[in-house]
Amino acid sequence: MIISLVGYMGSGKSHISKILSDKINFKLIDLDKEISKRKKLTIPEIFEKMGEIHFRKLEREILEEILASQENIVLSLGGGTPVYYNNMEIINNSSKSIFLRASIATLAERISKQKEKRPLIAKISDEDLPEFIAKHLFERNVFYSKAQFSINTDSKTPEDIIQEIIEKL
Ligand code: S3P
Repeated sequence: MIISLVGYMGSGKSHISKILSDKINFKLIDLDKEISKRKKLTIPEIFEKMGEIHFRKLEREILEEILASQENIVLSLGGGTPVYYNNMEIINNSSKSIFLRASIATLAERISKQKEKRPLIAKISDEDLPEFIAKHLFERNVFYSKAQFSINTDSKTPEDIIQEIIEKL
């Protein structure tokens, strides 16, 4: 079985997937890390050298490959993965998908600390970040909400969230 975690940047996909995979003894795959490893470049370097469209193609190719696996995997997706091609369709067909929701204030606070890792927000000021996220979520929520399960993560501990995921599976 594959469990896919979907959600905006800063929604806790990487953190939750790590704890979840340890707890249920599944292999952990972080799609961004996998892309980085294969290209031997960081995500910002891929965006800079090859452009976002190329990144999205790589993301799709590697996603398809991972979803074809018969192993038990917790797969942490990138914040934009559900938005491109018909990625949500293959994610839902080949895995249990879980959308981690968080408020704009929570997302802004979390990602303001790690902007340099994220090319799409690297140049946005902290002051403008909530507005940017609100607009982005308006466009993206339609894709995220295609996930089979959705969890509101605000004011919950990672343990609470993992418990909810396990109950839903
Ligand atoms: C992106 C999110 C990032 C990464 C890339 C693009 C996005 O992943 O895939 O910077 O489009 O939202 P995280 O959600 O892990 O930050």
